[in-house]
Amino acid sequence: MARNLEDAVIVITGASSGIGRATALQFAGKGATVVLAARREEALRDVAAECEALGSRALAIPTDVTDEAAVEALARSAVEQFGRIDVWINNAGVTMYGLFYDTDVRSNRRVVEVNLLGVIHGSHAALTYMRERGNGVIINMSSGFGKFAAAYQAAYVATKFGVRGFSEALRLDLKGTGIEVCTVMPTSIDTPIYRYAANYTGHLLRPIGHLLEPEKVAQTLVRLAQKPQREVVVGQAVRSVSLLHTVAPSLFEPATSRQAVEKQLIKSDAPAASGPGNLFEPEPAWTGVSGGYKQERRSAFRRVLRTGLLASAPAAAAFFWLRSRNASV
Ligand SMILES: NC(=O)c1ccc[n+]([C@@H]2O[C@H](COP(=O)([O-])OP(=O)(O)OC[C@H]3O[C@@H](n4cnc5c(N)ncnc54)[C@H](OP(=O)(O)O)[C@@H]3O)[C@@H](O)[C@H]2O)c1
Repeated sequence: MARNLEDAVIVITGASSGIGRATALQFAGKGATVVLAARREEALRDVAAECEALGSRALAIPTDVTDEAAVEALARSAVEQFGRIDVWINNAGVTMYGLFYDTDVRSNRRVVEVNLLGVIHGSHAALTYMRERGNGVIINMSSGFGKFAAAYQAAYVATKFGVRGFSEALRLDLKGTGIEVCTVMPTSIDTPIYRYAANYTGHLLRPIGHLLEPEKVAQTLVRLAQKPQREVVVGQAVRSVSLLHTVAPSLFEPATSRQAVEKQLIKSDAPAASGPGNLFEPEPAWTGVSGGYKQERRSAFRRVLRTGLLASAPAAAAFFWLRSRNASV
């Protein structure tokens, strides 16, 4: 493949928001040609315009990754337009929160269709062209949940373990062909995914733990395109928890149990109606790179600080007044 990104053609699924959008912009900033896929056409066109403004060539192709023929057409269009595919990033994904027995089978099936079948469709379509040239990199988006599980996300966890296993097997199939397969496993990332996740918890969702910026994952994807690696973790939390999962499963389980997830994820938040979120239909709002959660946390922290300061101001004033009075007698 062309290690020089200026000559490279990169296909990115799930490019209309979050990590995929950040990734498109970073590749474009390095002069790569980007082919952008997701369901939201208007958002894709915006991303393409931003990429072109950075000096890159960009093509927006509305695609549902669960549709095998549409994904094949995406690959064909990339090759017809730009001559080849150097890197294919299977990033499109959805998530769903709820205890498994509170969720319906149709929604579980859809999570599998998008997150796992979408990766299979993308890899198959990319290989048609990469094998002709004996060159290319396929990057598949798994998650920390490709290494360990958590309550409330059975279908999502299943797909991310599945993506990791599929990628490992595909890597072995492709040994010696010049085509590389990479798996990426990020920690919690501040993207809109939590805003429109399918939600069967009855509560407003919020991401758990320390959040990283989507740009951090995008940097990893750009690096992998130039220097492929088998598996890459993004975020220290995934390293620590997966170590605990391997060496001390009895200590790991309480950390991601139903009770732990309830405490961190949904307790004390406002109630929310149950529904499939963006599983079947895209959500027109929230097409940005960021989910805005870090900003919300910063604002909440400032509010607490301000309230604390205001509340303690009379006591502090009384303290200093008394001290100055004592000093003067
Ligand atoms: N955020 C995190 O904490 C985190 C952590 C680890 C891994 N990940 C993974 O990172 C990937 C990107 O997620 P994100 O956090 O950036 O969330 P996001 O902003 O919601 O991005 C998901 C992307 O997938 C697209 N998509 C959803 N269903 C699709 C379908 N049927 N066909 C084509 N595209 C579809 C969405 O666009 P449309 O709605 O326009 O189709 C969107 O562009 C996902 O695979 C996710 O599992 C995220």
